[in-house]
Amino acid sequence: MKILVATEKPFAAVAVEGIKKVIAEAGAELVLLEKGTKDDLIKAVADVDGLIIRSDIVDTAVIAAGKNLKVVVRAGAGVDNVDLQAAKDAGICVMNTPGQNSNAVAELVFGMLVTMARNRYNGTSGTELKGKTLGIHAYGQVGRNVARIAKGFGMEVSALDPFVTDEAMIADGIKPMHSVEELYTNNQYVSLHIPATPQTKGSVGIDQIKLMPKNGVLINTARKEVINEESLAAALRERSDVRYIADVKPDAAEAFTAEFGDRVLFTPKKMGAQTAEANINAGLAAARQTVAFLKDGWNKYQVNK
Ligand code: 3PG
Repeated sequence: MKILVATEKPFAAVAVEGIKKVIAEAGAELVLLEKGTKDDLIKAVADVDGLIIRSDIVDTAVIAAGKNLKVVVRAGAGVDNVDLQAAKDAGICVMNTPGQNSNAVAELVFGMLVTMARNRYNGTSGTELKGKTLGIHAYGQVGRNVARIAKGFGMEVSALDPFVTDEAMIADGIKPMHSVEELYTNNQYVSLHIPATPQTKGSVGIDQIKLMPKNGVLINTARKEVINEESLAAALRERSDVRYIADVKPDAAEAFTAEFGDRVLFTPKKMGAQTAEANINAGLAAARQTVAFLKDGWNKYQVNK
């Protein structure tokens, strides 16, 4: 049994040690490919039974190259980097590790919100988050962690998610929203947590942003693809009070920074899940799930049934 861990953005060393232990205890062989190219991945996947990845692209070329491949586990939440149908057609189970890195992403939301609210610590007077409205666009694992932390800041929290009942949100002490319009109209801060799907790609832009109250701040720690960049630029032009924060910088990040200056804030690389704790949680879960699938066919978190 051979398992390839292929991460262009490596796990923290402590997580790699844990993954090695889980795989060794299962009597399996580990192949570690860090910071590799697509060609490296195609070569390395040729004779492995299992593949563990982060945001690494698993497309038809990788799937075709994985002649023995039976399972792909994405250490994390989003599976938009995996061709799920091609994997299914090849009889390969794809799983994610729900919830394992969500606190890390949620904490970064607040790190970036405070940085923006305090004018990047440039010596000028900023604003506080306490008492401000925060709308969470999709109330999944990350959204729930954002809500928990926001309440600690004393924010007024609401959320929109057609898959979560009003009762569940009310039990968490947050206000349910029932439309995108309601969410953006009622919240000075909106935090995006929708996955990138054919339905959500390019779905957020000026139509939503123009509804935001004065001094609106949109923060995107989900996927850059959910934003329509041209429409976002138009919104920032029309509403000079609005600011945009992203852990997933836009393709046109340089142009955004040149035109909008301090009204935009981007991480240089996707940093949300880049903590030792998230790496340990998601990496170990991925290793355990891969072994469990290969040994016993365990597929609780399969996303391509
Ligand atoms: C996820 O989908 O789990 C997050 O976006 C983290 O992705 P990463 O593991 O590539 O940092």
